[in-house]
Amino acid sequence: MAVTATQATGAELKAPSDFDESPLSRAARQPLMLGLFLNLQDINFSSLPTSNSWTFDYNAELVKRADELGFEIAFSRTQWLPKGGYDGEASLDSFIALGAMAAITRNILLISTIHVLYGPLHPLHLVKYCATLDHIAKGRWGINIVTGHRAIEHEMFGWQRIDHDKRYEMASELFEVLHHLWGEGENFSYQGKLNPWSVNNGWITPKPLFGRPNLVTATGSPAGIDFAARHSDLVFVISPGGAHIDSALETLPQHIKAVKDRARAYGCAVKTLINSIIVSRDTEAQAIAYADAIEAGKPQPGTRAFATNNYDSDEHAWRGRGDARHKQGRNLGGNIEIIGSPEQVVEQLIALKRAGIDGVQLTFYDFREDLDHFAERILPLMKEAGLRL
Ligand SMILES: Cc1cc2nc3c(=O)[nH]c(=O)nc-3n(C[C@H](O)[C@H](O)[C@H](O)COP(=O)(O)O)c2cc1C
Repeated sequence: MAVTATQATGAELKAPSDFDESPLSRAARQPLMLGLFLNLQDINFSSLPTSNSWTFDYNAELVKRADELGFEIAFSRTQWLPKGGYDGEASLDSFIALGAMAAITRNILLISTIHVLYGPLHPLHLVKYCATLDHIAKGRWGINIVTGHRAIEHEMFGWQRIDHDKRYEMASELFEVLHHLWGEGENFSYQGKLNPWSVNNGWITPKPLFGRPNLVTATGSPAGIDFAARHSDLVFVISPGGAHIDSALETLPQHIKAVKDRARAYGCAVKTLINSIIVSRDTEAQAIAYADAIEAGKPQPGTRAFATNNYDSDEHAWRGRGDARHKQGRNLGGNIEIIGSPEQVVEQLIALKRAGIDGVQLTFYDFREDLDHFAERILPLMKEAGLRL
């Protein structure tokens, strides 16, 4: 399979990080990047009341606030689930919704999750849609590349789940073709070997502003890490130890080193992000009481809400969650849990940075209220601690 894409100049296809003035390069200059997880999905994992809503308007207000606060990244996920959903049913598509947010934000990167094998979407569709969003967002938009880990999602699209590692090989072939189409100075033809599509004299212009859109991968498996090392600017790492901050801090340094070493072996550099929930109040006792109240409202075994979480998945990344050797968290949401007073939260963020984390993708139990608390009480302390410029 041909790997190296060329631009009109004949040079290798550049990544956004090759341009000093790209939004990605600007974001990466922060000591600890800040991302906001946008929940375009009806998540009701605890009955403790919140202001949350999956609607575009609620999330548009959040993304505007995050942009004003100087957050570097907004991200949302996509899931394809039958009636019954995940926790709740309603969900907006993050490809379209974050694309629309380009028009109401100024600096923040907008990362949409796309299941790149479903459909399958033809490479020409992807390359043109992505170049269009790249221009609308002036280089701020990007893809969180996922290949689909739940059997039920593949079945919804009309086939049996594709083998785990083969999915990454298929995605690699797809991205090599996308790179050609984003970079080539001439029409490009390719006959898919692992994928059921071909391209005959494919061409798009304008090209993306900074080589290609920003690319993100969320993975923990060897095949996924190998893919991420070759095809991503940012990698969502997942704590091999589970959600408790102590086990995350214990297991992350070695894991992050392996991810970065893998990228270096391909001559690439990746930044790491971790999806974290912050549960904070002015004092430690208040923060713990808040976490207790969230936990008390979680669905109990035997209820419908509890049962819908158990779709068959072949993912590797979250297996630390079931590992009894590690301290497990309270299952409050997010990949890891940061609980405490503002000072304690900042201490944990400093420790994550020392563990090799380049940015945190923040989730809150109550997005609007807790983002306010974060802005007023935690962000100033992060600046004092040198985590933010
Ligand atoms: C922050 C974050 C967001 C994710 N969003 C999605 C998503 O929207 N849709 C999806 O199918 N997988 C998503 N994933 C990926 C899966 O949860 C899982 O980690 C991945 O399929 C595992 O790949 P692996 O087997 O290579 O480790 C996300 C993972 C993380 C850490």
